Amino acid sequence: MRLVVLISGSGSNLAALLAACAEGRISGQVVGVVSDRRDAYGLVRAAEAGVPTTLVPWRLMHKAGASREVFDAALAEAVAAYAPDLIVLAGFMRILTPTFLTRFDGLVINLHPSLPGDIIGAGAIERAFEEAQAGRRDHTGVMVHEAIAEVDAGPVLGQVTVPILPDDTLEALKARIHAAEHTLLIDVVARRCAAPSRPSTDPTQV
Ligand code: GRF
Repeated sequence: MRLVVLISGSGSNLAALLAACAEGRISGQVVGVVSDRRDAYGLVRAAEAGVPTTLVPWRLMHKAGASREVFDAALAEAVAAYAPDLIVLAGFMRILTPTFLTRFDGLVINLHPSLPGDIIGAGAIERAFEEAQAGRRDHTGVMVHEAIAEVDAGPVLGQVTVPILPDDTLEALKARIHAAEHTLLIDVVARRCAAPSRPSTDPTQV
């Protein structure tokens, strides 16, 4: 399975995928990493692992007048060049339009640090932490789902609940969530690589 990973930042989930592929826990290979941000540290991780990278610079393109559709068309070209069997949005912080999604129908999965339908959009970990501080929640979670045009929605491929402890700091919660993400993402991608034509929608408890 040819995996293409889209990132915008640190790339710790990319690192987890690279390690799992190298150790044979995923029957696949990351053949390309695409970023919308030049300063994404994940690009360094990819280069260190010998994985080709492509930058599709949203901010630069947007300043030059590009619309979201123009960006998504360029992104789709960059991704298609790697001939992907599966496209993993691992901390990719742009909302994709149908221009991109219809071209790779059923091949795009997204990682999101919240349980399905709970906290939508950016800043989900911070929002969960604030709600816990205000006494309104004691858990959050992470999920992997098929990407559709609606943000952080689509058939769920795996999810796991993450507790928020009474004496948590934001940093402690982030670390717990990222650890859960790394485990869940690898589990879902490994299952998908083992049975590419029959993606499972069974929720995964890790
Ligand atoms: C993850 O929490 C992901 O769910 C969110 O952005 C973060 C990316 O982390 N959308 P990393 O770049 O993989 O370290």
